[in-house]
Parts: sequence; structure tokens; C-alpha cells
Amino acid sequence: MEVIGIAAVTANGYIARHKNERISWSRDLPLFQKQTGNYPVIMGSTTYKTIPNGLSGRQMIVVKRSDSPEMILRKIKHNRCFVIGGGKTFSKFAPHLTHLYLTMHPIIFKSGIRVFSEIRDDIFLSFIQMIPVIEAEGIFQFQYELIKSKDNRVEPNKTTH
Ligand SMILES: NC(=O)c1ccc[n+]([C@@H]2O[C@H](COP(=O)([O-])OP(=O)(O)OC[C@H]3O[C@@H](n4cnc5c(N)ncnc54)[C@H](OP(=O)(O)O)[C@@H]3O)[C@@H](O)[C@H]2O)c1
Repeated sequence: MEVIGIAAVTANGYIARHKNERISWSRDLPLFQKQTGNYPVIMGSTTYKTIPNGLSGRQMIVVKRSDSPEMILRKIKHNRCFVIGGGKTFSKFAPHLTHLYLTMHPIIFKSGIRVFSEIRDDIFLSFIQMIPVIEAEGIFQFQYELIKSKDNRVEPNKTTH
């Protein structure tokens, strides 16, 4: 199963100014809706509180600190699911992510929540492709395959989505 992390990020690597921020600055919602489609979306309880109206058409799986990523992923019957944040949840699922879709926004926050709340040093990104979101404003989505250092794979699978 593909486990795709997807996020809107600032030029200096933040996904929010603070944990209660409802994201209104991102410009990639139509692409997010299209890509996550009818697939299950996994999110942390804090992010869930920032989306009061939910995400229509998708199974929303809300993660608490006591939840095991392995158990959650094992129950999913689709061939693809999306981890949609926030930073604590990206870190929690990092060992299981197969792909990362990051939409870079040309803004800078002084402080905030990083894509991964805890940085791991055993994960490497292999570039797949770049999708224009709002080209005139310099907003592009960068798609990567995640390579864990323990993997034996030499050549990443260059599938596109
Ligand atoms: N730009 C983007 O694309 C994007 C995407 C998603 C989210 N966001 C933003 O990210 C922010 C939320 O990110 P976040 O990292 O704070 O939260 P989060 O990952 O959404 O949720 C927090 C998770 O961590 C757990 N947790 C909380 N305190 C913990 C602790 N001390 N030890 C272990 N686990 C703990 C929570 O479980 P419990 O329920 O048990 O506390 C929950 O599973 C929001 O502002 C949201 O808008 C941005």
C-alpha cells in the first residue's frame, strides 16, 4: 500500500504558525482534494480540531497518542492512503511513509510547526516530479519517494500520481 504524506509548507519548512491554526494560507486545496480523492486520510487529533467541517467523501482516521500506526495501516483496505498531518503525526507515521507530496508556498513564518516534529536521519527523498499549482505565484508541489536507509532498493519506482 502507498502511504503518502501530503502537506502545504512554507519556504522555511513550516506547516502552521501554531498548533491551533486553521490553515487558510495554502493555495493547493483543489489539488489536495483531487489527489486524496476517495482515499482514507489519517490525521492527528489536533489537526482534526482545525477542520470543523471534515473532509467530504473520505474516510477520516483521527490518531491519538496511544494509537499504533501499524494497527491503523493494517486495517486500511485501499491500495493508497494519505497522512495529512500535523507535524507530530507525520513523525509518528514517518517509518511507514512511501511518498511525500510537499506544496511549497513562497511565504516565511517566524516560528511554528515543522513538517516533522521530530527529525529522523534515516529517511531520504528521491524526487519523482514537480506539479505546478499556481505557477505565476511560484507554488509547486514536489513529489518524492521516501527511501529508508535500511532499504535494499537502488532505483526508486518512478510512478506518477
Ligand atoms: N500545512 C499543512 O498542510 C497542514 C496539514 C495538517 C495540519 N496542519 C497544522 O498542523 C497543526 C497541528 O499539528 P500538531 O503536530 O500540533 O498536531 P497533530 O499531529 O495534528 O496532532 C497531535 C498528535 O500528537 C499526539 N500528541 C499530543 N501531545 C503529545 C505528546 N506530548 N506526546 C505524544 N503524542 C502527543 C496527539 O494525540 P492525543 O489526541 O492523545 O493528544 C495527536 O495524535 C495545526 O495547526 C494544523 O492546522 C497543517
